[in-house]
Amino acid sequence: MRYKTHKYFIAGRINLIQRSKIRELFERARKMENVISLGIGEPDFDTPENIKEAAKRALDEGWTHYTPNAGISEFREAIAEYYRHTYGMDVPMENVIVTAGAYEATYLSFETLLENGDEVIIPDPAFVCYVEDAKMAEAKSVRLPLREDNHFQPDPDELLDLITKRTRMIVINYPNNPTGATLDEEIAKAVADIAQDYNIYILSDEPYEHFIYGDAKHYPMLKYAPDNTILANSFSKTFAMTGWRLGFTIAPEQIIKDMIKLHAYVIGNVASFVQIAGIEALRSEESWKAVRRMRETYNERRKIVLDYIQKMPYISALEPKGAFYVFANIKETGMKSEEFAEWLLNKAGVVVIPGTAFGKHGEGYIRISYATTKEKLIEALERIKKALEEL
Ligand SMILES: Cc1ncc(COP(=O)(O)O)c(C=O)c1O
Repeated sequence: MRYKTHKYFIAGRINLIQRSKIRELFERARKMENVISLGIGEPDFDTPENIKEAAKRALDEGWTHYTPNAGISEFREAIAEYYRHTYGMDVPMENVIVTAGAYEATYLSFETLLENGDEVIIPDPAFVCYVEDAKMAEAKSVRLPLREDNHFQPDPDELLDLITKRTRMIVINYPNNPTGATLDEEIAKAVADIAQDYNIYILSDEPYEHFIYGDAKHYPMLKYAPDNTILANSFSKTFAMTGWRLGFTIAPEQIIKDMIKLHAYVIGNVASFVQIAGIEALRSEESWKAVRRMRETYNERRKIVLDYIQKMPYISALEPKGAFYVFANIKETGMKSEEFAEWLLNKAGVVVIPGTAFGKHGEGYIRISYATTKEKLIEALERIKKALEEL
């Protein structure tokens, strides 16, 4: 069948969605030869074998049907149990909904809790989906600058200044994409106190919680403001399961019930055998061993990137203690972020993401992802070093 050339009517809300600005860069990189990408935002590891086996077994055992919208009870229980074991928090399974990754978790949060005229405070720089989620919910994004001087953590006084009568939610994401920053406990508590005092929701997106290094610790916002926090989490990064589309939200039970209404008509339920594999992921020591191995490998690569950056002219970076990104300061090159990314691709055949892809406060920075093999990483860093030395 051939479609006639036709101008289709498309709903205005779809035109509001901005496709990623970095797409063009990737497109061009794809057509070039011998390019190494440090632009990737997903683990280069394969899903641990025991999790894959569990999915195969589940298929053979007939897990091929619909499940309850909120997810299989045993899986929701396993998620609740995981929070009890890991953080000592008592999370009843009624407070859990299984989602198609953290993307769906954040989308559900915006759609369920915000409406026309509401304001949502979104850090700048921040992962790209929140601003787009806000547009779809017809909410106004108010950006909260994250500064290198503050180790890319929110300044509670600045946060207070942004709060108005219409502020309904603040987005928090630590360990952070794109900066690799982690959150100090005192800042977590300060944000929690502000949210409680002003009756604001905290959407805490925590998919990198297991990728923290050195003396850093993860402080889940749920612990500090349980009644205000909507936790978005995912199996994508923790267990290298990006393609499985598995995540979850923890929130007060009434909010979960309302999220289920929307989820039921969009996703229905997350694939049944994928949920069964999720139980294996959380309950088996084998998968946690794999997580520890991935963390060690990321940490090794993180050090390689930092060592190289120290040896390079015109570029510096704060030590990131989380996720798998380094947010490097390139202001001394005199180039803007996009210009730098462009220049680096042409000169060295290396892809990095301009900081401005994450908000205007990302100007002067580039995001380097170390979710790639050690060999490729070293080759890319050698190329960047050489390019900068010749600048
Ligand atoms: C901070 C953050 N949140 C959410 C997501 C979406 O992850 P997923 O939907 O695969 O769980 C990502 C993916 O890169 C991310 O970096």
